[in-house]
Amino acid sequence: MLSPNDTAVTDSPVVADSAVIDDSAVIDDITAHAEAMSRREEELLAKLVGELGAEVVGELTEGGSPARLLKVTLPDGSPHVIKLLVDLPGAVDGHDLGSFRLKIRQIDKVRDENPDLRYFYTDKTHEFHGEDWAAYTMPFYPNEDVAACLRADEPQVELFYDRLGAALRLLVTHGYRKDRVAGGRGTIADVHADRLDRRFWLLAKYLPEAMTGPDRIVVNGRSCRHPQQLARLIMARPELTAGIDPTWLYYPVHGDLNTRNILVTPPGAGLRDTEEGFRIIDPRGTLDLWDISYDVAKVLFSLSVWDGGLRKGFEITQPPDAAGSTFDLRFRGQPYPGYVTAAHRFLGFLTEHPEFAQLSREDPGWRDRLLLGHAFHLLAEAACRLSDIKKRTDEQSESEISPLELAAGHYLYGVLFLEDAVAQLEATGHIDPQTHLGLLPAAS
Ligand SMILES: Nc1ncnc2c1ncn2[C@@H]1O[C@H](COP(=O)(O)OP(=O)(O)O)[C@@H](O)[C@H]1O
Ligand SMILES: [Mg+2]
Repeated sequence: MLSPNDTAVTDSPVVADSAVIDDSAVIDDITAHAEAMSRREEELLAKLVGELGAEVVGELTEGGSPARLLKVTLPDGSPHVIKLLVDLPGAVDGHDLGSFRLKIRQIDKVRDENPDLRYFYTDKTHEFHGEDWAAYTMPFYPNEDVAACLRADEPQVELFYDRLGAALRLLVTHGYRKDRVAGGRGTIADVHADRLDRRFWLLAKYLPEAMTGPDRIVVNGRSCRHPQQLARLIMARPELTAGIDPTWLYYPVHGDLNTRNILVTPPGAGLRDTEEGFRIIDPRGTLDLWDISYDVAKVLFSLSVWDGGLRKGFEITQPPDAAGSTFDLRFRGQPYPGYVTAAHRFLGFLTEHPEFAQLSREDPGWRDRLLLGHAFHLLAEAACRLSDIKKRTDEQSESEISPLELAAGHYLYGVLFLEDAVAQLEATGHIDPQTHLGLLPAAS
């Protein structure tokens, strides 16, 4: 399966001449499952559309979960979105029905308890619950995602940071800051390391054995330890992360702050007619007090690998003369230059952000925890891609990007970033941002 000389026969864009992943068998399996799921979703969506007396406008496909989203028009003429999740046996936590139902509770809680956020936080107009599914509706907000201005031909990094800064100010002032509890030693081990350990079976099931089996693999020239072993090391040696565990956990205003969940709305759609506004959508589904560094690490993760990777796909090759577990990894095509610039400026932006800095002042480990969390987010996302059987579209060719390619790309970047983060923690107790972010996909 992994011989570098194989020329795989498949029409999937994953496999080029020197490619590593022959995913045809796995894709058949996933596709069969996807078709059955999709029929059930269609039936339920049709039922919900009927109950609401709505007209279907189209599907929204920018999401990061297996949920289905339909744009509809309600009988009063207002554009709405129906979001449906049908339970997927074996879905990773965060993508399961329990988390989805909690998401609805979290939206209610945040809106009820923080009236000032109502103009900026997603509304929820209806909810529906079945035995193995749930759905909710919300108004449709005309928008572009907060990172769209970085993908423009002339990337607008200042505008991105103005917008992100304004959204973060609202979230801190009317959200995170509303409540806090002392964070405990072992938070990183519980939240990140344990989750990776629990999800690893899914990665081992679908990804090539040469990626998930050996004690060490080489990624972009760097020898990396097995990520599950690193997760267990963090759990077994709490002193490694004791200095960077969160001092405080804050009000759970979000939990999945990727750039596609921060919508920039045009003037008139928010609080004021003359200024653009925001809608923060799609919270994680948690009612527990939460680490703000976890959330902002999701923004870095969107800029570094996730958003560009989902839009472009990954090119994974094995050098012809190298050993079986040596991988070279990059985006297909070039990373968005605006994302690369913005990712390198991200920690500086947070350091200077007045409201964020007010919270992080008492939290000396926030930078290290953010960078370590970023590495874990990449690995967690690899499992989500396998759990997410929704079809995704390559923006250039309109052809599908295989979930396996997306999973493998996130996995290998995650292995690389986690190795570096843990090695630096072992050596100095800190992670130097400059050398660490030097691992980012770069334009070649
Ligand atoms: N209320 C809405 N108005 C406009 N666009 C929306 C709305 N809800 C979702 N979207 C679009 O659909 C995408 C996926 O929705 P989201 O709720 O984030 O799903 P997922 O859980 O799959 O990430 C969003 O990133 C956004 O582009
Ligand atoms: Mg989302």
